[in-house]
Amino acid sequence: SGEDGYNLWLNYRPLNARQQQHYLSQLGTVYIADKSATTSVIKDELKRATKGLLGQKLSAVSSAQSAKLVLALNNNQLTTPLGIEQKSLGDEGYAIKQHKGQIWLVANSDVGLLYATFDLIRQIQTLADLSKINKVSVPKVKLRMLNHWDDLDRHTERGYAGQSIFDWHKLPDYQEQRYYDYARANASIGVNGIVPNNVNANALILTPAYLQKVKALADIFRPYGIKVYLSVKFSSPHLIGGLENSDPVKPEVQQWWHDKAAEIYQLIPDFGGFLVKANSEGQPGPGDFGRTHAQGANMLARALKPFGGNVLWRAFVYAHDAKAERSLQAYNEFVPLDGKFDDNVSVQVKNGPIDFQPREPFSPLFGAMPHSSLAMEFQITQEYLGFSTHLAYLGTLYKEALDADTHTQGAGSTVAKVVDGSLSDSPLTAMAGVANIGMDRNWTGHIFGQANWYVFGRLAWDHDLSAADIADEWINMTLTHDKNAIDQIKDMMMNSREDVVNYMTPLGLHHLMDTGHHYGPGPWVDNLGRADWNPTYYHRADKQGLGIDRTASGTNAISQYAPYWQQKLANPATTPTELLLWFHHLSWDYTMPSGKSLWYELVHHYNMGVAGVEKMQQQWQRVKNQIDPNQFHQVEMALGIQLKEAKWWRDACLAYFQTFSQRPIPEGFPKPV
Ligand code: GCU
Repeated sequence: SGEDGYNLWLNYRPLNARQQQHYLSQLGTVYIADKSATTSVIKDELKRATKGLLGQKLSAVSSAQSAKLVLALNNNQLTTPLGIEQKSLGDEGYAIKQHKGQIWLVANSDVGLLYATFDLIRQIQTLADLSKINKVSVPKVKLRMLNHWDDLDRHTERGYAGQSIFDWHKLPDYQEQRYYDYARANASIGVNGIVPNNVNANALILTPAYLQKVKALADIFRPYGIKVYLSVKFSSPHLIGGLENSDPVKPEVQQWWHDKAAEIYQLIPDFGGFLVKANSEGQPGPGDFGRTHAQGANMLARALKPFGGNVLWRAFVYAHDAKAERSLQAYNEFVPLDGKFDDNVSVQVKNGPIDFQPREPFSPLFGAMPHSSLAMEFQITQEYLGFSTHLAYLGTLYKEALDADTHTQGAGSTVAKVVDGSLSDSPLTAMAGVANIGMDRNWTGHIFGQANWYVFGRLAWDHDLSAADIADEWINMTLTHDKNAIDQIKDMMMNSREDVVNYMTPLGLHHLMDTGHHYGPGPWVDNLGRADWNPTYYHRADKQGLGIDRTASGTNAISQYAPYWQQKLANPATTPTELLLWFHHLSWDYTMPSGKSLWYELVHHYNMGVAGVEKMQQQWQRVKNQIDPNQFHQVEMALGIQLKEAKWWRDACLAYFQTFSQRPIPEGFPKPV
């Protein structure tokens, strides 16, 4: 028995009596100045949170003067004495301010007040001191979105936590409680847009029957500040509209999209827009008619523009007949189109140039399209990081990608500044995460998968937060307040992704996962229909050495980076060690910065990965008494699997690479079995 994890980080476990007393004395009475669907969400959440955390709900009072806690819009004469500049909060930002013995939550919109409410609740959950609180928080990125890869039949592509939460069969009339709880969770971390359906889109989604279902979801999510977007198939005019084809320059195709947009906005006046995967992995697109991505994207953008909608056009493209090595293709196709996209289009770029690997360099598109809006696409679901069985906290991965310095406009031109628009002129800033959510009782399968959903939202709101601080919050809110336990668990989380890198793909190796499903090692696979699906395409192991040469003597992918990086990456000695084999084919005896050979370091890293999981197991045992027994046991079992599979990865990869290196496993390391 014990917690099933359904309530996520909003589980509102009671604080101890002293803490409850303390917060009640600061917050005991509440005044909410406004009435709307969103303010009733606020009232419900405050009630739920204070009943849970503090043992009783706050008493509502009818004037601001008599309340300890006041929620008010900033256009109100009430808030004048606080001296908060209205403009500084924007549409969604908020202030939390202690003023003459009262705590004020102030925003320009009800949704801003909702975000403030969740922040205040978080302050209590993390036992923060409210006595001098004075903060302003404004999102750095405009669209903060979850992308679900739902196939409309309960299946989620790359979903590992059970069936999809969207039950299209029962919609629109049957509205699961889960939809509301999902909205609460998203609002609590600032997610304000969702795409319920797969980027490998089913054209059915735009048919009238499905639009009714989408409308039902949009109506549920609206009070939580969440807009619905849809993934659309570019060939929809042909597939469901009966047109001869879907060539974007044809007036009848443009008209079809205009009419479809009008139909959607009739049902959903605040509809967000379209997400499009075009001319990638077999999906249709403007390229089928000799048109560019910009022509395709702008055609859709113009259909949505009159209604205020946006287009997120994905840059994840690679073609089976392309001459260029796969990592080069997105840049080759998109950079020439810089400046050609309409202002309601954002080009959605995966963090790395290949595909959500445990580690990749940042995509060279970031910084290379200064006249376009570029959105970040992260994967929250762990397609290449052990599904929902392996513990891998992705906060460190996200931060590494966001903090990477592109040097495209001198030092400090970080990916984050490209994404938040501060480096160049991007009218539409966005961050998307491919969701890891399903029907499992705890939503994400692995309880620590919840932390990845959480950290995605927190960083989309504010990429300056640290991965460690966010882990700290999440542990406090979800698992325990015990200081020692928090330290142990935080340490596990902060090292976990590097452990995965080490036992799967150390030193810049990538795409060694077995075919199709991407679970477990398959570095030997070399017989797939497309060369660039084979792991051998990426590691290029031979008698001489290991790694893919992406310098001028090889595929020259380094030429897509700024001169600063070109110079560094041209030479293995100045290439970051963790990306060495991403950019270079090096001899087995190549001398690593440690002074040891490449072969030695490879063996060492695979073993460090295994040791890291053993350490996580020990750390988890140490926190046993502080963790709910059910949750403890689930993580314990998953760590057991993770250790078995870390050894599987190590042994399989080393045994395979040894057939090329022809060198013994160095002294002190176990021999592969
Ligand atoms: C990966 C993933 C696919 C997905 C694709 C995408 O290749 O394996 O399942 O469709 O990414 O992002 O479009």
